[in-house]
Amino acid sequence: MNKEKLIVAIDGPAGAGKSSAAKLLSARIGADYIDTGAMYRAVALKLIRTGTDYRDAEALDAMLESTLIDFEAGRTILDGEDVSGLIRTPEISALASPSSAVPAIRYKLTALQQAMGEEKSVVMDGRDIGTVVFPNADVKFFLTASADERARRRMLELQGKGESADFDEVKAEIEKRDRQDSQREFRPLKKADDAIEIDSTRMNIEQVVSLMSDIIDAKRMDLHGHKGD
Ligand code: DC
Repeated sequence: MNKEKLIVAIDGPAGAGKSSAAKLLSARIGADYIDTGAMYRAVALKLIRTGTDYRDAEALDAMLESTLIDFEAGRTILDGEDVSGLIRTPEISALASPSSAVPAIRYKLTALQQAMGEEKSVVMDGRDIGTVVFPNADVKFFLTASADERARRRMLELQGKGESADFDEVKAEIEKRDRQDSQREFRPLKKADDAIEIDSTRMNIEQVVSLMSDIIDAKRMDLHGHKGD
């Protein structure tokens, strides 16, 4: 395994399999996995808990100033508390999408994410990693799948947790988030010009991770070739 520091960016719409792929890929290449969606979700949870309206700039600034978000052993830590389970609810998904459009929130989380990638190799997934957070990432992926397939996967996930859901409702929720995330004015979800697009509609997670890791290996060889070592 190569020792050089590597930044891998994975962007794409909700439910495309970014976090599952990023988790497996990071273990395979010996990098840390950073789930930036979890950070926007943690902010949404804090907005609810503190009764802060994200449209109230002053109140939002005050809240953000006293907000600490970190990861420990794959858990999401908000102000010292493990909130990993609490941020995976439909209520948080519904609030994280519009609140993540607010520049003050994006500035704060972007700075944190950049600091996390400073010291070590990371695989970071989100919506703006290849475009804004790490525009010079070593490898950028844009992972997509059809809305039907993404809804089908979300249904399986919910069923796995013993929850029932209506396919059309799940699909409508995914499409609504797609619209909000890609049509917001500030730093929308967008494929970076130099990102490699992978449509996972007809692929399983193993195939996606193998493809990503082959591309990274090829890129590393290429880099070394150019460096002459
Ligand atoms: O990936 P996710 O579903 O956990 O993300 C939750 C919300 O956070 C998503 O609707 C958009 C927002 N988000 C973002 O704007 N930028 C990121 N880098 C990650 C997530």
